[in-house]
Amino acid sequence: MQTYLKPGDVVLDLGCGRGQDMHKFAAANVGAVIFADVSDAPLKTARDRWLEQSYAYVAAFVQLDFTKPGFLDIGGLSLWSNRSRTVERTLNARAPFASVVNFQLSLHYAATSISSLRATVQAVSMAMLPQAFLLVTAPDSGVIGALLEHPPPEDSSDLFRVTPREDVIATPATGFPYVFEMCDGFVSPEVLMGVGDLKTVCSEVCALQSSVSHCRTNLNTSLGRIWGHTQEKSCPNRGGRS
Ligand SMILES: C[S@@+](CC[C@H](N)C(=O)[O-])C[C@H]1O[C@@H](n2cnc3c(N)ncnc32)[C@H](O)[C@@H]1O
Repeated sequence: MQTYLKPGDVVLDLGCGRGQDMHKFAAANVGAVIFADVSDAPLKTARDRWLEQSYAYVAAFVQLDFTKPGFLDIGGLSLWSNRSRTVERTLNARAPFASVVNFQLSLHYAATSISSLRATVQAVSMAMLPQAFLLVTAPDSGVIGALLEHPPPEDSSDLFRVTPREDVIATPATGFPYVFEMCDGFVSPEVLMGVGDLKTVCSEVCALQSSVSHCRTNLNTSLGRIWGHTQEKSCPNRGGRS
């Protein structure tokens, strides 16, 4: 993330959760962050955590569903300073405003089909300034797909397992629903997003969207590598990013 963020950037953090990336934004000295999530509880936690800090960047916290048409029709936004607790600037979200759109472990929820993935990417592209970056980290579809097709034995000591949500015996592809289950009891319904499909959708949107003048895809498969690595270890206590 430090490679793509620069001082003064306006970041749109979609599916921000509890604001796990707020320190990274501060470290990069960004100017403003719009934290957005469909769920009220993590968004509130993110706001409370941000208020406890004294970051220099201003922020807004917006509840929205990035799978819904027009989800960025949010008009004027008030951006608050957490030092003075006052509105420091406003932003017109109807015009392109984002230098970075951040989807950390969230865009794949829009990939219930290629067309819904395309709709979300197209909508965010309208918010992106020229030369803006779309940063996406997603579960590795190659790793997940292989595990869905060839599940390890029931008694395996894997750190996590994935199971299909429906009795569909087919090659998992974008839109394939599955359940992700950690050995510590965490369970989450997920949707597979093929890396190739994301690349294709981004290229299509780039070709259509003249304001996005610079497009390149830099695929980050580190999550797959981390999972492969952690599978060799026993189940740790809950931890990692907070
Ligand atoms: C796995 S968490 C990732 C949170 C954070 N970005 C991180 O990196 O840890 C996924 C987040 O995406 C949010 N989310 C899922 N579907 C969404 C949607 N359609 N619109 C907005 N947020 C969504 C969830 O509420 C959740 O907070």
